[in-house]
Amino acid sequence: MNNNLTAVPHALSVLDREAHYGHSGAVLWLTGLSASGKSSLAMALELALTKLGYSCYVLDGDNVRRGLNANLGFSAKDRTENIRRVGEAAALFADAGLICITAFISPYREDRARARDATGAVFHEIHVATDLATCEARDPKGLYKKARAGELLEFTGVNAPYEVPEYPELRIDTSNTSIADSLQALLSYVVGNISLNRLLE
Ligand code: ADX
Repeated sequence: MNNNLTAVPHALSVLDREAHYGHSGAVLWLTGLSASGKSSLAMALELALTKLGYSCYVLDGDNVRRGLNANLGFSAKDRTENIRRVGEAAALFADAGLICITAFISPYREDRARARDATGAVFHEIHVATDLATCEARDPKGLYKKARAGELLEFTGVNAPYEVPEYPELRIDTSNTSIADSLQALLSYVVGNISLNRLLE
């Protein structure tokens, strides 16, 4: 980091922001294979939490890679940079007082640990642990098929690694649980861990 930088304090405190939104900021970090259900769960969770009165926003891999991270590919180095930027962005959302839900494969433990460090205590790692065979059978974008045919290199689970989280705060497996039930499990976890002090009128 450049030595000639000095942090500028905000005029709003963490408590001011909590009073404004009615809950503390947080990062809900969904990690798992492609087609494991991360994006579907993240979007459904965003809607359900908003209806309950939480303020939240989803950062999703396919979306962020079309803008902020459009200059990054899928080498190990580029994935690390992808997750570094998203980890910092999610930490800013949480600092702003929002609940940031992220949906990225984020295959490397070290990168996820760095994202956790950027946010601090309000970071929750959620492993969407759907197994490879189920993800591959779903293959909604045809990418597993391409990877098996050798047309797509460095595809996670086929010819690039996924490092399973050792101690996630929550594990969800959509191979044996419906999206609706998985969403309920996620909602119970969030409501139990991030209290809402303001009810919708
Ligand atoms: S990450 O590994 O850097 O965290 P990220 O979540 O941003 O990945 O992007 C994953 C999405 O990119 C997948 O859902 C898939 O649609 C697309 N994709 C394209 N190429 C690859 C690849 N080689 N490996 C994994 N996903 C890929």
